[in-house]
Amino acid sequence: MKKLIIINGPNLNLLGTREPEIYGSLSFTEFLDEVKGKYPNVDIDYYQSNVEGELINKIQEVGFSYDGIILNAAAYTHTSVAIGDAINAIKTPVVEVHISNTFSREEFRHTSYISPNAKGVILGFGLQSYELAIQSFI
Ligand code: DQA
Repeated sequence: MKKLIIINGPNLNLLGTREPEIYGSLSFTEFLDEVKGKYPNVDIDYYQSNVEGELINKIQEVGFSYDGIILNAAAYTHTSVAIGDAINAIKTPVVEVHISNTFSREEFRHTSYISPNAKGVILGFGLQSYELAIQSFI
C-alpha cells in the first residue's frame, strides 16, 4: 500500500471559512474524508501547521520512509528558503499543490521556493489539485 502525506501550511486550517470565493466552502477534513473513501488502497496521512519549523520537522520525519509528500506550504511557498532546502534534503518526492492559480494573483505569489525542488506542481484546480497530486503517485 502506497503511503502518502498531505502537508498543509499556514491558514489552511481555516479552509471552508477563509475567503471562500478563492478557496471554496468545503473544510479540509470534509474533503479529506471524501478523498480517502475514493482511494481505499492508498494510505493518506494529513498534517497541518501554521509554524514554519513544524512543517520542516514533519517533512524531515516522513521524508525517508513515505512514498510521496503532497505539500501546500501556503504563504511560506513564497518566502521559505528553509522549506525549499528541506525538500532537497529528503528522499521522498514532493508534489507542490495550490488551491488557487497563484499566477493569476498578486506578483508576490508568482515566486515559489518549493517548485525548483518539487517533482511537479499542480495549482488552480481548487481542492481537486490535491486529488490530482494523489493520482500522480498511484
Ligand atoms: C495557496 C496560495 C498561497 O499564495 C496562499 O498564501 C495560501 C494558499 C493556495 O493553495 O492557493 O495560503 O497556497
